[in-house]
Amino acid sequence: MEVKVLKSEQINRAIADTFIELIKKNPKAVLGLATGSSPVGVYQLLVKANKEGVISFKDITTFNLDEYVGLDGSNDQSYRYFMNYNLFDHVDIDKKNTNVPSGVGDIEALAKEYDKKIAAHGGIDLQILGLGSDCHIAFNEPGTPFDSLTHVTDIAESTIKDNARFFARIEDVPTKAVTMGLRSIMNARKIVLLATGKNKAQAVYDLVKGSQDESHPGSILRDHPDCTIYVDEDAASLL
Ligand code: GLP
Repeated sequence: MEVKVLKSEQINRAIADTFIELIKKNPKAVLGLATGSSPVGVYQLLVKANKEGVISFKDITTFNLDEYVGLDGSNDQSYRYFMNYNLFDHVDIDKKNTNVPSGVGDIEALAKEYDKKIAAHGGIDLQILGLGSDCHIAFNEPGTPFDSLTHVTDIAESTIKDNARFFARIEDVPTKAVTMGLRSIMNARKIVLLATGKNKAQAVYDLVKGSQDESHPGSILRDHPDCTIYVDEDAASLL
């Protein structure tokens, strides 16, 4: 695992370029995508590259990490809505090839199928990740087993507080989510994670230098053969 300390704009550029190089090399690549505020700048650069004709998403398949239980894609707080709004609606992707775990319907059964569906597409070539302030990745909160696959989970109290900024009231934040597991994420061939700001400093420390166990879900990434962590100076301040 490599750690790179850069300015926020440089992080977005470096990660967008990693996606652009992959898509140029393999126009049928399978991308692992994330929500949250961290990846938004990267998605803006990918939209620009698509509009300028540098890359096409025509034959690209995507799998998102997670979704809130109880919200369907028409809810503006759902992660499906977020992805349409921030990326899919602005590029030439076929929406049929975009996958976000379902937060409604028979969620347990659908979650079980999710890893099989990823495998049927040949696995994820490149996965982008953000980082929760409690060191969670996707919605794998502290205590999640390292060998977990896609599953339904409780969202930690601290994460509910962190994510409340996107909702009108904290009571509106769902308390459960469907998330790819830590093993599902580790199966990706290449991983890039970005974290910026002082409020991520402890989580970045725990990921890079804390005890490597289930109390620090992100620490599993140290065992990945091709993973780069991009942080700004604030997020790196405890390293
Ligand atoms: C949520 C998401 C994570 C994301 C995290 C950090 O909990 N499930 O995938 O990494 O928030 O979000 P942000 O990038 O907004 O700090």
